[in-house]
Amino acid sequence: MGKSLAHKILDAHRIAPDGSALRAGHYRVDSVLFHDMSGILPFIGCDAMGMRRANVPVPVVFTDHNLVSVDPATANDQAFVRSGARAFGLRYSLPGNGVCHSVYVHRIARPGMLLIGADSHTATCGAVGMIGIGMGGMDVGVAMSGLPFRLKTPKIMEVRLTGALRPGVSAKDAALALLRKLTISGAVGKILEYTGEGVGTLSVTQRATIANMGAEMGATSSIFPADERVRAFMTAQGRAADFTPMAADEDAEYDERVTLDLCAVEPMVALPGRPDRGCAVREAGAIPFSQIFIGSCTNGSYTDIARAAMVLRGRKVSPETTLLVSCGSRQIYAMLLRDGYIGMLVDAGARILECACGPCMGIGHAPASGAKVLRTSNRNFKGRSGTPDAEIYLCGTETAAASAITGRLTDVRDVIDPAELDAVREPAAYPVDDAMMIDYDRQWDGESRLRYTKNIRPIPVRPAMEGTIRAGVSLKAGDGISTDDIVPALPHLMTLRANIPELSKSIFHNLDLEFASRAVAMGDSVIVAGENYAQGSSREHAAIGCMHLGVRAVLVRSIHRIHRANLINYGVLPLLFERTEDYAAVSQGDMLELPDALRDLRREGRVRVRNLTTGGEFFARSDLSQDELDILAAGGLLPLMGERLGREEKR
Ligand code: F3S
Repeated sequence: MGKSLAHKILDAHRIAPDGSALRAGHYRVDSVLFHDMSGILPFIGCDAMGMRRANVPVPVVFTDHNLVSVDPATANDQAFVRSGARAFGLRYSLPGNGVCHSVYVHRIARPGMLLIGADSHTATCGAVGMIGIGMGGMDVGVAMSGLPFRLKTPKIMEVRLTGALRPGVSAKDAALALLRKLTISGAVGKILEYTGEGVGTLSVTQRATIANMGAEMGATSSIFPADERVRAFMTAQGRAADFTPMAADEDAEYDERVTLDLCAVEPMVALPGRPDRGCAVREAGAIPFSQIFIGSCTNGSYTDIARAAMVLRGRKVSPETTLLVSCGSRQIYAMLLRDGYIGMLVDAGARILECACGPCMGIGHAPASGAKVLRTSNRNFKGRSGTPDAEIYLCGTETAAASAITGRLTDVRDVIDPAELDAVREPAAYPVDDAMMIDYDRQWDGESRLRYTKNIRPIPVRPAMEGTIRAGVSLKAGDGISTDDIVPALPHLMTLRANIPELSKSIFHNLDLEFASRAVAMGDSVIVAGENYAQGSSREHAAIGCMHLGVRAVLVRSIHRIHRANLINYGVLPLLFERTEDYAAVSQGDMLELPDALRDLRREGRVRVRNLTTGGEFFARSDLSQDELDILAAGGLLPLMGERLGREEKR
């Protein structure tokens, strides 16, 4: 029986915790990725655990998220991250060098690598035939120390691509069409592996767009083969020597299969609230937009922005809207400048932003209250733009550019002959200049220390979990709660990512202003929610913030993979209703009792839940591994690692 490419790469990295023999679920990683917002907590944690030096071949940290410095706290946070890069010996990407996934794909990614990153879109690098997996920062920090990385073996879903995209239809449209088919939970616990003759019609940057959007389908990762298109891309990047051809075996077996006919894809738009609410642009109507954003790690490539510029060439942005454009990296920006595309955008009236995440997660350019905005980024959850009641629509860059001209949702084929877009070609050679990537790995001296400031506070930890949990229900929420609901994307909160006591006061602010004070008043509490709890980003603040407010357990119908891991790492029990109808038997304010929760979970994988308010009773289950139960018993990953390091020192 042949192997999928994903299995080949995972098998090549599988190790036992002691390095002695194969054991499913433990892997050595080639690379770790952090950014300025996801790197702070793990750097504090690694420092507290006494880590001296990163112990993986390619550790990297990017400064690309919070670049809008409205007070000294942002600059202080950036200085802390840089000091961590220097102290632990990581490559450090300076502000302005570009968005992490874009720079990683272009300058670092190689076929066959295994990367874990403290960001949910880490799988973008799957475009070149490697596996990238988004995790919480503390898990990535532990992997950086050289310890094996734990992963429940994912299923592999083959996504067979047939045909080719028609003129005027983009890779983003294909991703939105697939997302509509699979929904936001259709790839949970799976790696999406792209095969079929349609793959060869897509460039690496188009593949990166599709791999990036796998996160919105719940996928653990996404991967394309390393074929001639990858060789050409790496050659254009001056990295031909990094290329190795890699593909699935001819007779590879897959756990599941889905087919997407690229010829049948139409220009798509995702309606507000969920990225899987896709429909054809022509069916959605002429929705007016007051702001349009082109860029992000999904659609910030050279061809993405050049094609938008071609649509806008010789035309003007409607005075009823504003068009924001951000390139994925400085390298891309320089090339678009050289080739005249930035000039076309400026002539049309576009506003060029720096190469960063920016509007994608509400860091600047928050729209007006109640505004409708169109974006080429990947998420449209409520509040994601920084404006709680703004409505976010998602699309590809061609649709965004066409809509900027009319001020309304517009199919690009109604504005220009889409064949004109063929003038935009993948570059045969990119200008290579890595001056803004500092290699502190090579410069490591063992003397540098982290630069703490008063806004960077120690990480709170829970006492060990033992005995019976008795806790009130501090929140009962519905389906589809995102991490943007839990930790709002509000500009003034961006600089509190290292100050958990302060940040936790705003947990669930967009949903329920009273949540934090209610949770604190309750002492210990439980959050109850419906399906797909904590979908979205990898931000571990959504877990640690709740933990700091006294949340002991989260009881839901289903939960996002990364948030589940983050809860465990911070000592909060993730539980699932055994019977989904029991969700209705719990109300906000009820007092719940979970007798000997950890003991029963170890023995039976389920725990009795008594509702002391109603007198009812039901079961909650969990699929916690032995390792995860140990972490919870210790009160979280930090106390556990501290205990283990303490034991090592005494020997
Ligand atoms: Fe940045 Fe948005 Fe991507 S925050 S990493 S551009 S999803």
